[in-house]
Amino acid sequence: MKPLKGLQVVEQKHVTPNTFYTILEDGRIFALRQPRKTDSGKLRKAWKQVGGQSRLSYMRRYVDQDLYDMNKRCNLPLYMGEFPGVLPLVCEVGNTVVGFCDIFFKYGSDFERFGVEPMDKCANGSITALDKYRGLGVGNMYAVTSNYIARHYGCQWILGRTKQEGGMRGIRRGEGWEITGYDGLWVDHKLRLD
Ligand SMILES: CC(C)(COP(=O)(O)OP(=O)(O)OC[C@H]1O[C@@H](n2cnc3c(N)ncnc32)[C@H](O)[C@@H]1OP(=O)(O)O)[C@@H](O)C(=O)NCCC(=O)NCCS
Repeated sequence: MKPLKGLQVVEQKHVTPNTFYTILEDGRIFALRQPRKTDSGKLRKAWKQVGGQSRLSYMRRYVDQDLYDMNKRCNLPLYMGEFPGVLPLVCEVGNTVVGFCDIFFKYGSDFERFGVEPMDKCANGSITALDKYRGLGVGNMYAVTSNYIARHYGCQWILGRTKQEGGMRGIRRGEGWEITGYDGLWVDHKLRLD
């Protein structure tokens, strides 16, 4: 795949159900969409191309583990905007699967340490690129598309925890995320969306 880096975003679009497009100046389309039954073969194949270290950084221990079983992932109920709720997504450029991500929607009361109001709507995402597509701009495209999705669902905040040295920290720094905590390894940070 040709790098996505440095390309201008010309448009962002939502298509029902749960498909979000970021359209680039060279005509390519970066999509985050909730996978359905017919995607399970494609997702199983792509998931094998996510290495152990990437899986560890992406997967969360305290969530429904069906998210990481590709057959079950493709059969989860469509996310309908509920809080709390989770939107499982596949990242694609055209028809090529380039990564996986999930966006968790919760009220601020679950994110006290970030200094948000208890009834604020918050989005918190996790991403991995397929190993062979790392460093090509998938993380940057995920960032602009996940911000768009969080706004779409009426969130006041997008927030999360990343390693100080991780790829997503650099991207979110560039977007102006505000640091709310740091323990020497992990950074808690947030961005106001409205
Ligand atoms: C974090 C991750 C999603 C970033 O995606 P990516 O597509 O590699 O990132 P991008 O190409 O958009 O580059 C983002 C930054 O990553 C770093 N980076 C550059 N080349 C890289 C490479 N080959 N591998 C990893 N990171 C690289 C740089 O800091 C880059 O910043 P820049 O835009 O100023 O050059 C990806 O590296 C990944 O899948 N990591 C494993 C899972 C993980 O750690 N997830 C984070 C949990 S929230």
